[in-house]
Amino acid sequence: MSGLLLEGIGLLVTNDPGTPGARDDDPLGAVPDAALIACDGRVAWAGPQADAAPQVERLLHGDVERVDASGGAVIPGFVDSHTHLAFAGERSAEFVARMAGERYTAGGILSTVAATRAAGDDRLRATLLRFERELAAQGTTTFEVKTGYGLDTANEERLARLAAEVTDEVTFLGAHVVPAEFAHDRAGYLDLVTGPMLDACTQHVRWIDVFCDEGAFTADEAARVLDAGRSRGLGVRLHAGQLGFGDGVRVAVARDAASVDHATHLSPEDVAALAGSNTVCTLLPGVEFSTRQRYPDARALIEAGVTVALASDCNPGSCFTSSMPFVIALAVRELGMTPDQALWSATAGGALALRREDVGRLSPGSRADLVLLDAPSHVHLAYRPGVPLVRRVWRHGIALPLG
Ligand code: NIG
Ligand code: FE
Repeated sequence: MSGLLLEGIGLLVTNDPGTPGARDDDPLGAVPDAALIACDGRVAWAGPQADAAPQVERLLHGDVERVDASGGAVIPGFVDSHTHLAFAGERSAEFVARMAGERYTAGGILSTVAATRAAGDDRLRATLLRFERELAAQGTTTFEVKTGYGLDTANEERLARLAAEVTDEVTFLGAHVVPAEFAHDRAGYLDLVTGPMLDACTQHVRWIDVFCDEGAFTADEAARVLDAGRSRGLGVRLHAGQLGFGDGVRVAVARDAASVDHATHLSPEDVAALAGSNTVCTLLPGVEFSTRQRYPDARALIEAGVTVALASDCNPGSCFTSSMPFVIALAVRELGMTPDQALWSATAGGALALRREDVGRLSPGSRADLVLLDAPSHVHLAYRPGVPLVRRVWRHGIALPLG
């Protein structure tokens, strides 16, 4: 058995109100002065430090890593349910132009498609591994990766295969935009995406997604693509409401999508549809930051009964941050979330957006994916924006090298 004992935790956030020492009306299941025990990569016990000794005696034998948190907070590893990390090249010139007042449109995607098609497997693999380390150093222990910068069968298959080397959560986004070679044959591209391209990718992916927005795909087109994925056993998620209003949310909810993402533009009908569904609304405030758009109102969504997740959307165009602490700070400052809500949405919310029960929480049996902060509570993630507060990270109970 390999074990992990974390003692001297100033505040332990479990996202499990049933944790010993937590208030049962606290969704964060937070325990002050706590300890946590993990065995073979899973949480075995969490609770007050004062109750830890008999649990240590009962559960820990053999090879044990003992860590004194010295009053630091411990939280579940972040679950970043929305990234586009399989790409080559960068688009900082577009960012400079936007900061000078230009509008974000989906047009820049095609320049990343050209750079990605030209990159060899080794380069793309090295980029994905670099991002995996970059995310871990900021406390992200589970992340999704989308295809969508290949847009032909061979390249989409390649991106899906390479992404699957770093995560189990890979999403087919062949319907990102229509590539240049199909500019005059939209119907032909939709046939490809819902047929041979999808068939080539299905073996590597868990999810299907469509960019349903102005300049991308219509709600009817999205419905066709999502249905093609569903008929092959894939779970459904959708980009909708980033650039304008539309029917995407209702298309997704009608298909029991795990998540609708962006949601910068939502009608009252969209909000009602989400509130009455199992579909999570994943907000990506790094995008509004990097495109100078207005921020969505997370507080209103939560009050309406919508389950809200937070994710990075890390991609070279609309938002090139991989930092969930930064996303949390934005959510608190700009989206009207409390620090508790933002932390929950970046962990448990992300897990729900991926329909995962084993991550995003620290209850017995959960994966021992945890982050020790150089701060007495998670509130400091927003209170001290931009400060690197992640001191240690464990995935499956194993300490990750953060250098
Ligand atoms: O989620 N909106 C669509 N796709 C990405 C941006 C892609 C890009 O600009 O390269 C997004 O924001
Ligand atoms: Fe995205």
